[in-house]
Amino acid sequence: MDIQIFENAHEASKKAVDFFEKALEKNQNVFGLATGSTPEALYEQLIDSSLDFSDAIAINLDEYYGLPANHPQSYAYFMEEHLFNAKPFKKTYIPNGENTNVSEEIDRYNTVLAENPIDLQLLGIGQNGHIGFNEPGSSSTEKTRLVDLTQETIMANSRFFSDQSEVPTQAYSMGLASIMSASQILLLAFGENKAEAIKAMIEGPVTSEVPASILQNHPNVTVLLDKEAAKLLE
Ligand code: F6R
Repeated sequence: MDIQIFENAHEASKKAVDFFEKALEKNQNVFGLATGSTPEALYEQLIDSSLDFSDAIAINLDEYYGLPANHPQSYAYFMEEHLFNAKPFKKTYIPNGENTNVSEEIDRYNTVLAENPIDLQLLGIGQNGHIGFNEPGSSSTEKTRLVDLTQETIMANSRFFSDQSEVPTQAYSMGLASIMSASQILLLAFGENKAEAIKAMIEGPVTSEVPASILQNHPNVTVLLDKEAAKLLE
């Protein structure tokens, strides 16, 4: 893993823009994208940049189960608001949270991934070491699936909902195997509350208890951190 530490999230996100630029230059135009607070500064900078994604494909990691795409807390809505409205892509994919035919939705998304191998996968990380919605205990061989969110993740995500009872308890997520098949992975983490997960991911053993630790086995991973997220690293 290539670990780079920056003064703040803005500087780290500026570096992340370079990865998108280089990928586009090489015609590597299938991007795996994430939601949450972590990529917000990056998406702002992509919008402000002159980069052209009109030939690019975006494939998002995950979506809450049960939320329609037009729900303000759905990840589909987040992506429109934070990136796609201002920076159009040729094609965007995200799991359909409204599809209650779970096996059909999983097959559909796995086909999307098989037909569009990801060149650059962007990741955030949960405080418990999750990537996508692959919570501790997730198998490394899983592709897209419906996952039960842990109480910790539900609580962390409740900040976006008016009441914790409104937070969906399940999500469709690309599995660890789907994430590991990306050619290149770029993980961003900011803030002190990510420091323990980052230490475990980088310096701990590869274990399903810290799903992100599997990235130690990927040949092309870059981790961009602010000082706070890096503060427990040796
Ligand atoms: C979001 C996702 C999650 C987040 C993680 C960190 O699509 O897959 O794994 O990256 O929960 O969330 P934030 O960035 O809000 O701290």
